[in-house]
Amino acid sequence: MGSVVIIGGTSGIGKELAQHYLDRGRSVVITGRDAERAGGVAAELAAAARATDNAEVPSAHGLAVDLSRPHYIAAALAGIGPVDRLVLVAIERDMNTIANYDIDKAVRLTTLKLVGYHAVVHALKSRLSPDSSVLLFGGVAKDHPYEGSTTVSTINAGVIGMMRTLAVELAPIRVNSLHTWMIEDSPFWRDKPETVKWAGSHTLTHRLPTSADVVDAAALLLDNPGLNAVGLRVDCGM
Ligand SMILES: NC(=O)c1ccc[n+]([C@@H]2O[C@H](COP(=O)([O-])OP(=O)(O)OC[C@H]3O[C@@H](n4cnc5c(N)ncnc54)[C@H](OP(=O)(O)O)[C@@H]3O)[C@@H](O)[C@H]2O)c1
Repeated sequence: MGSVVIIGGTSGIGKELAQHYLDRGRSVVITGRDAERAGGVAAELAAAARATDNAEVPSAHGLAVDLSRPHYIAAALAGIGPVDRLVLVAIERDMNTIANYDIDKAVRLTTLKLVGYHAVVHALKSRLSPDSSVLLFGGVAKDHPYEGSTTVSTINAGVIGMMRTLAVELAPIRVNSLHTWMIEDSPFWRDKPETVKWAGSHTLTHRLPTSADVVDAAALLLDNPGLNAVGLRVDCGM
């Protein structure tokens, strides 16, 4: 069986998902921008997984891949073997508005998601098998713009188009996407409790998705053979 490759696996949901698969004895490759940091996080996750006393001892590797420099992606991924699950979750934050449009930030984030994600799939295509699956991360800002989401809303909507074209081009490999509302316990929101409270008040369940909720939904999309070309919202009924 091939490995689980998580592009953007050094923090947040990517890191939680890496732990999910390691805990189940699956070999994982995580990437971030810095090789040393990625290697350190991989070692930390593998040590935690071994502590759960799995029958199979999984391996975890960390690699440096910068999605904002797509021409270098194929070389950075050259050492990866067969891939069973491919997760594209990396993001850089951007608060753009049309009134104060920051072109450099917009180009960087748009390149990262809409070119970088494609370039990763292109580079790893020959290492996927018919039973492999791919998961792309977007967000509900595609449907619900907010002040500062000009680029984020645009790229998240783009992820739906990307999912559809990849599902056709890679068939029978399954390609799904997950679009979450603000994740309550995400490291990014840790120092912004008022924003988290405001966001939670806008759902029918009066709570926000947790990392555990999102990991559970991601694993379903990745592992359930009946799910293909699904753009799943995880938003607690926004
Ligand atoms: N958190 C939320 O509340 C929320 C809400 C809506 C949607 N989402 C979506 O969910 C996904 C995960 O969000 P998160 O908050 O869990 O992310 P996060 O904790 O900010 O982690 C981002 C990951 O992306 C990597 N990364 C950053 N810049 C990169 C680049 N230029 N090239 C390659 N990798 C890069 C980071 O690695 P290094 O820092 O090690 O380089 C890190 O592993 C994102 O796609 C986001 O759009 C999240």
